[in-house]
Amino acid sequence: DIYKSLIFDDRYMMFVDGLINTLKLTAMALILGVILGVVVALIRVTWDKTCLEIRGPRRIVLAIANFAAKVYLTVIRGTPVIVQLLILYYVVFASSRNKLLVGALSFGINSGAYVAEIIRSGIMSIDPGQMEAGRSLGFGYVATMRHIILPQAFKNVLPTLANEFIVLLKETAVAGYVGLNDLTYVGNIIGGNAYDYLFPLLISALVYLTLVMFFTFLVGKLERRLRNSER
Ligand code: ARG
Repeated sequence: DIYKSLIFDDRYMMFVDGLINTLKLTAMALILGVILGVVVALIRVTWDKTCLEIRGPRRIVLAIANFAAKVYLTVIRGTPVIVQLLILYYVVFASSRNKLLVGALSFGINSGAYVAEIIRSGIMSIDPGQMEAGRSLGFGYVATMRHIILPQAFKNVLPTLANEFIVLLKETAVAGYVGLNDLTYVGNIIGGNAYDYLFPLLISALVYLTLVMFFTFLVGKLERRLRNSER
């Protein structure tokens, strides 16, 4: 039975590996996605708010950035993330093939497009009077955005952002397409080796569920804390 438990330990370690890979992928993609999302959202909002006034070279730079942002959003949201992953892995990074890096890039670039629209809708949900109030107090556009608009917008979109994080975590399950052994891949492989998929896949599913429930709990706490500051 020592032999049996050895095999079992190996499988156990495979799940730990898979979990670590899933967490790494999600964390890196999340950071990239949020950075991309905020930048793209700010470009689009700033263009929409100032295109009637600004002139000169700054107008041209902003117009080009706005166009690039729109192309990014259209292409990324218009194609499946699996196709993007495969293109990045087999075509763009054909020579390096660092699976974790390519995966994180794919999911980060993909998530960034959705985050951008979430942030943009959050900014647009803030009354225009907030910008006018900031400006009339002597703040510039950037300072008003940063200290008055964005903090309020962030609070409004927190539940939607949390949802995007959950989608992202589960979306990394397609990383197995390029042979990255994430949580899903490990469950699938072990199931195949054992000719019994029930428990391996059940373990994968339970780990995802636990992660999502734990994260939902954390976000709930954060939401309550942010709401406290309203009183
Ligand atoms: N699974 C879909 C796709 O292949 C949707 C991805 C949605 N991703 C997101 N971060 N909201 O593109």
